[in-house]
Amino acid sequence: MSDTLNRISEEGANGSSMMPVIQGVGRAAIEIAALLRGAVFRGALGLAGGENVQGEQQQKLDVLSDEIFLDQMRSTGHVCAVGSEEQEELLVIDEYASAPYLVLVDPLDGSSNLDVDGPVGTIFSVVKRKSASDQRPDVNDTLQAGRDVIAAGYVLYGPATMLVCSVGSGVNGYTYNTNNARFEISHPDIKIPQSGGYYSVNEANSAQWLHGMADTLISVRHTEKLGMRYVGAMVADIHRTLLKGGVFLYPADAKNTTGKLRLLYEAIPMGFLMEQAGGKAHTGEQPVLDVQPEALHQRVPVYLGSCAAVDGLTA
Ligand code: AHG
Ligand code: MN
Ligand code: MN
Repeated sequence: MSDTLNRISEEGANGSSMMPVIQGVGRAAIEIAALLRGAVFRGALGLAGGENVQGEQQQKLDVLSDEIFLDQMRSTGHVCAVGSEEQEELLVIDEYASAPYLVLVDPLDGSSNLDVDGPVGTIFSVVKRKSASDQRPDVNDTLQAGRDVIAAGYVLYGPATMLVCSVGSGVNGYTYNTNNARFEISHPDIKIPQSGGYYSVNEANSAQWLHGMADTLISVRHTEKLGMRYVGAMVADIHRTLLKGGVFLYPADAKNTTGKLRLLYEAIPMGFLMEQAGGKAHTGEQPVLDVQPEALHQRVPVYLGSCAAVDGLTA
């Protein structure tokens, strides 16, 4: 079996159809990684001056990464539309409006880390269109529960550039090898440790958490013997949780009563990976993958990680 992204074509029922799309994600990752490395010298750090649909300040690199990702999805020829954190409406790819797949994307996750040279990422999931191929795709094609996701993953722009993804047959991690300019398998068949690890949360919000979550967390972190790590970029915090165990959580609070993180391009892809790696993904009310999406940018509370820790926080 190949040690590059090409091995995806041999993975389960979805591998061959997903390989071109994930190769496109890989090409976007390489371009975005290069953009990030040189940003400070091209005045590309800092705010773009606009806001995204959630009223959040857009970083210049949010906008540039979104453009790169869309172009690479177009180049696959298999994607008819992209739902992006950085675009209010669904972006239909006119030249391929009859193509079978839609991609949901957070083109640059954790962008508040950019100005301090912290890790950031890209998060994506892939769904099969519900509309007929001779119709124009629309937002209803994206509103599919995580159980129907075909593939999902993330790119982590850290000391190395990693692509971690699943097509429904387990989770594999690939690291970009600069010697031969391609992603190579480095973390085959990732399974989340079911004990130990870290809890990962922005504890500054704990006084506003709902339903006594602050006390519950104190109890769980004791019984599960968890350390604490928080990077402030979901991709980095989830990657560590997948490899070391524990739980990442962003609870609802008095300010964000439905949580902060977005269902379609943060919670569902990460929840898909967590379940594929033997972990759990919960909103506090139901499994993340059971939530029926109602809007492109809706938010949910998330508890993602080792089974016992997630159960302790949500049961
Ligand atoms: P994004 O940069 O795509 O808006 O995502 C930021 C998210 C997520 O990456 C991270 O887990 C969370 O915001 C951090 O939120 P706080 O700064 O409120 O802790
Ligand atoms: Mn994000
Ligand atoms: Mn983002």
